[in-house]
Amino acid sequence: MKDYLPKEHFDAEAERSSPGEGENPGKFSFHSFPPWSRCPQWWDFIEKDMKVLDIGSGIGTEVGKLNQRKVFAVGCDVAPKMIELAKKNCLAHGVDSAKFVLWDGINLPFQAGSFHRITTNTVLQHVVDDSKLENIFSQVNRVLIPGGLFLISEIVGVKTSHVYSHVKVRTRKDYIYMAGKKGFTLIANKKQAKLYLSLNYAFCLLRLFSRRWLAGKKDVPGPATRQQEDKKSNPLAFKRRLDKFCQRIDHVLDKMHFFPLLVTQDSMVFKKEG
Ligand SMILES: C[S@@+](CC[C@H](N)C(=O)[O-])C[C@H]1O[C@@H](n2cnc3c(N)ncnc32)[C@H](O)[C@@H]1O
Repeated sequence: MKDYLPKEHFDAEAERSSPGEGENPGKFSFHSFPPWSRCPQWWDFIEKDMKVLDIGSGIGTEVGKLNQRKVFAVGCDVAPKMIELAKKNCLAHGVDSAKFVLWDGINLPFQAGSFHRITTNTVLQHVVDDSKLENIFSQVNRVLIPGGLFLISEIVGVKTSHVYSHVKVRTRKDYIYMAGKKGFTLIANKKQAKLYLSLNYAFCLLRLFSRRWLAGKKDVPGPATRQQEDKKSNPLAFKRRLDKFCQRIDHVLDKMHFFPLLVTQDSMVFKKEG
């Protein structure tokens, strides 16, 4: 697997976007940046006099939309070109109060207890190193006020898997465990299925059940010819064909950038203890 360099990867992504459009025009991607027309993602958990930090702020939509609603919100990101794009994007929508700062990916450049809410959307899944992610949880704990909320939205799977160099799919338990170690408690969890994820799930279930059914069948002597193998009387021949078929589908799904696991996008709300 090739090395993943977050700054270079997302600087290149920023170069493909145009300020004001909010998407990644001209490029096919499973990730669409949130459109400006959307309500701020965590609006239900935010009150007007609160201070909010969005980590991995990308093109700046969340921060811009909060500033538009008179909430003090700051964004930080590891990719300097994303920061520039976020500023231009906000200006293109008439928001000149939004602040964005460069982040080294771990240490948050703010004093302890500076924010009531810290938000993040599809960022932690790009922190592929677990010890770095643990440090981010520690830093978030430091800059939140006691009782403050860390609101995250990430791709979550049934099994931890590092499928692409820039994405590590973790389980719900991984996030809850890591957050718990750093002084957070989960208070809300919303799961969102996506079409490409669901298709893959259906395929996995089909395979699981057909294998279980076949496991109960008795073997018969090996086939001498292809015609014999094709006979319905040999369930294990069917199993061999099914396995081959599944391997081919797996291969296609991998090529098409489908995760070979059940994945959802989870919004989780963690409360800082104390
Ligand atoms: C998929 S974008 C999401 C941007 C924004 N939150 C949104 O919803 O549109 C991921 C963002 O996280 C930042 N990022 C990626 N990998 C990172 C890492 N390892 N550490 C810290 N930030 C990272 C990128 O610079 C990028 O802006």
